[in-house]
Amino acid sequence: MKPRQICAGVHWVGAVDWNRRLFDALIPLPDGTSYNAYLVQGLEKTALLDTVDPAMESVLASHLTNVERIDYVVSQHAEQDHSGCIPFILQKYGEAQVVCTPKAKALLVDHLDIAPERIITVEDGETLALGGKTLRFVHTPWVHWPETMVTHLPEDHILFSCDFFGSHIATSDLFAGNDPYVLEAAKRYYAEIMMPFRKIVQKNLAKVREMDFDFIAPSHGPIYDHPEGILSAHEDWASDRVSNLVVIPYISMHGSTETLVNYLVAALIERGSKVQKFELSTTDIGKLAMALVDAATIVIGTPTVHLGPHPSVFSATHLANALRPKLKYAAIIGSYGWGTKAVEQISDLIPNLKVEVLGTVLCKGIPRAETFAELESLADTIGEKRAAL
Ligand code: FEO
Repeated sequence: MKPRQICAGVHWVGAVDWNRRLFDALIPLPDGTSYNAYLVQGLEKTALLDTVDPAMESVLASHLTNVERIDYVVSQHAEQDHSGCIPFILQKYGEAQVVCTPKAKALLVDHLDIAPERIITVEDGETLALGGKTLRFVHTPWVHWPETMVTHLPEDHILFSCDFFGSHIATSDLFAGNDPYVLEAAKRYYAEIMMPFRKIVQKNLAKVREMDFDFIAPSHGPIYDHPEGILSAHEDWASDRVSNLVVIPYISMHGSTETLVNYLVAALIERGSKVQKFELSTTDIGKLAMALVDAATIVIGTPTVHLGPHPSVFSATHLANALRPKLKYAAIIGSYGWGTKAVEQISDLIPNLKVEVLGTVLCKGIPRAETFAELESLADTIGEKRAAL
């Protein structure tokens, strides 16, 4: 594929990874992804903003076939899906220097063994003149690692944002338009990548709002040519607002926990709650993460295995704790055979969740009338809390 022009002197030179289905050996990619690199050619200097995943080096190389000189390779983020081909660029273009934040320099040396003398660092707000085009670097830590920055190109009204505002989509579209499918993918991406840093995301959003741009060019997914939609969506996702949503991740071994879950779901719906349940042996954890973006309540359903929660529940609970969603309330329900420490063990797994525990409903063996009554009571409590949101 040839470089794709965004505007005069600015081209997309990335790679679309249609077939990738897992990121970091953890995150499902139902729609593939892209690694966007951008070539910015000024009157005097040329800069490449980020590279592509090492598996796609040949694609980047083909885009650069007719590019004789690269003076700077800007590394906005040291993770390998963007930095992994910097060694290739430095080898191909002997005069090129890497431009990055001071924290990124150390990471690029550690992760890619890049020679420190090929790296120049930039402070927050520093600029680099290319001749008729200026790159202004703005430090935006923790979107996604501590070293991340974004780059503003004021002459062309473009904000290059790397992981920030990204979406994992393989598409032939260069621009997002107002496609709701992109917004959905961006929410999934936010949930999986950015949500743990929500408070810092708020600060970075405020910083981005101070800049003047018409395009946001992330390093995953299409370019936003109507950026207000993605900006306001991020402001909503990262805000302290929660919705009337009860998320129920669960698993059941012999049907009792499923019976509890289904009973509670019906009771909550009767009381006007919105509910999403996720059966953990089959669920897409990206969907679960998305549901947690603004849910007010989580109810964890688990059977007991060797006194503790089922391993799938253990894993999902650990993930929820790591993602640090803005949940306000939690409850645990489930069934056990003869004894259980599931509640204690789940409680120990969620120190990051600053939730009020609304109750636990456990039953030995199959659920009976008293257990259903406890579920009714739990649904009442969740309903009361919802009314107070
Ligand atoms: Fe797309 Fe954090 O790398």
